[in-house]
Amino acid sequence: MISPLHSPAADRNKAPILEPLRRVLPASGLALEVASGSGQHVAHFAAALPGWTWQPSDGDARSSASIDAWCSGLTNVRPALRLDVLDEASVAALAVALREPVDALYCANMLHISPWATCAALMQLAARHLAPQGQLVLYGPYLEADVPTSPGNLAFDADLRARDAAWGIRPLADVLVQAARVGLHLRERVAMPANNLLLVLARDACPPMAGPLSP
Ligand SMILES: C[S@@+](CC[C@H](N)C(=O)[O-])C[C@H]1O[C@@H](n2cnc3c(N)ncnc32)[C@H](O)[C@@H]1O
Repeated sequence: MISPLHSPAADRNKAPILEPLRRVLPASGLALEVASGSGQHVAHFAAALPGWTWQPSDGDARSSASIDAWCSGLTNVRPALRLDVLDEASVAALAVALREPVDALYCANMLHISPWATCAALMQLAARHLAPQGQLVLYGPYLEADVPTSPGNLAFDADLRARDAAWGIRPLADVLVQAARVGLHLRERVAMPANNLLLVLARDACPPMAGPLSP
């Protein structure tokens, strides 16, 4: 038996994240988690929201055993999948594994610790798999034009970029441009502890046009 991964940050933020989830999610549904990491979030949410079935996943194959260990004994969590949003084969395998649209897609703390291309890939995934009334819930730090960036997030951003030039805290406006390209818009922005945001996105009433109108 392996010892599951442990994230002190996930221990701290799982309860504050659950609060808005309880409010924005309906009583039951199927949720896909992208970038589950250790699995602490999905274990906490699945135990607290028994009407929901969770499908955890992560791009790093080493996460699967940890997620499954954190979720052992929870009957509403499916075995973790390896899902790298940038890898066509694992994205295709997800469609086979899911079998049905999801009512929520939850992704925390991935966009700043992965290349920017993961944002468009995540949005494509949401557009493909969300049910018509489904919601995309994002959690993490973001840069906002009209909100001064906290010293803590500035230092975090510098640290991320020093570790990998492709990483960094993303401007919320850029994330919303990627969302709009697949017909998703921001429904709610919730300020969270430690200068994080919880963002709820939903499908536009009218999907975006596929291309320019012919003359
Ligand atoms: C900081 S951890 C966040 C884990 C968890 N969501 C949390 O908030 O505690 C970032 C996670 O993103 C995953 N990740 C990075 N790039 C990814 C990709 N292209 N597709 C799926 N997961 C990815 C990593 O494997 C890692 O588990």
